[in-house]
Formats: sequence, structure tokens, C-alpha cells
Amino acid sequence: MKKVLIAYFSLNGNTQKMAEFIAEGVRFTGNQAETHKISSLKSVEDLNGYDGYIFGSPTYHLEMAEPFKTFLFLCKKADLAGKRGAAFGSYTHTGNAPGQIFDTLQYVFKMQPFELGPFKLLERDVATREGLKACQDYGKVFGEKLG
Ligand SMILES: Cc1cc2nc3c(=O)[nH]c(=O)nc-3n(C[C@H](O)[C@H](O)[C@H](O)COP(=O)(O)O)c2cc1C
Repeated sequence: MKKVLIAYFSLNGNTQKMAEFIAEGVRFTGNQAETHKISSLKSVEDLNGYDGYIFGSPTYHLEMAEPFKTFLFLCKKADLAGKRGAAFGSYTHTGNAPGQIFDTLQYVFKMQPFELGPFKLLERDVATREGLKACQDYGKVFGEKLG
């Protein structure tokens, strides 16, 4: 059984819901998924020891949320190279954050990019059946790729 860390920031709960559904998808594959708000991840030790990482932030003012930028500086000190990484987030019109995070995982942290790429979901779809399934599927494929 592989272990996946799903770390997210969410101001109004949309990206948090996504995190929970993505975790369900990972668990469908028999792997372990832990969801944590980034505010609870304070040290490198909190980040090391997972087989895969899925990071989530909504888009605010065309960018990932400010606290997520600080979180990524902590991640830079962790041992993430070679681990599979993915990114997601809720948005209303541009949805830049998941792509920005995904690029950082791939090009700065030298992680293995998840084959499905970054995953952004319109806020209005988060609480729908289709939205829930899209999140679960993202987690499911991530879990399957981990083996
Ligand atoms: C001040 C403000 C700025 C925003 N800027 C953007 C933006 O640039 N692009 C975008 O797609 N959504 C933008 N949004 C919408 C949020 O990304 C959206 O509400 C998202 O679902 C919030 O996720 P959360 O509930 O996880 O915090 C903005 C929302 C607010 C309140």
C-alpha cells in the first residue's frame, strides 16, 4: 500500500471538498490518502515519507493563494525529487493556480509529473455529481499510477 499526501489551502471550502473527493479516489485503489490543510504542515518532517503528493490551491488574483507560495518554499526543503506529483484547485474564470503549482513540482522540485496534468474545477461544479466524480477519477488514476 502506497501513501499519498493531499495538502491544500481553501478559503471558502471548495478546494477542500475537492481534496476530500480526490482522497476517496486514491483510496478506491487500495492506497492510503491523508488530507491536510497546509497550515498544519509546518516542518520538512511533516512532508517526507509519502510516495505521492497532490497539492491544491484555488486561484486568487490570477495566482495560487498567498499561503500556498510560502508552503512551496517549505516543500523545496523536503525530499520530493522523483516522487509523483499532481495539483488541483477550484476557480471561477481563469484557474491558473493548479498549473502554476504543477510546473513548480515538475521543474523546480524535479518530481515526476502526474500523467493527467493539473486539474482545475469550476466552483459551480464542485458540489455536483459530475464534479465529485471528476475529483474521484483524478485521485483514482493517481492511485493506479502509484501501483
Ligand atoms: C478576491 C477574489 C479573487 C479571485 N480571483 C480569481 C482569479 O483570478 N481567477 C479565477 O479563476 N478565480 C478567481 N477567484 C475565484 C476563486 O478561485 C473561487 O471562488 C474558488 O472556488 C475559491 O476556492 P476556495 O473555496 O477553495 O477558497 C477569485 C475570488 C476572489 C474572492
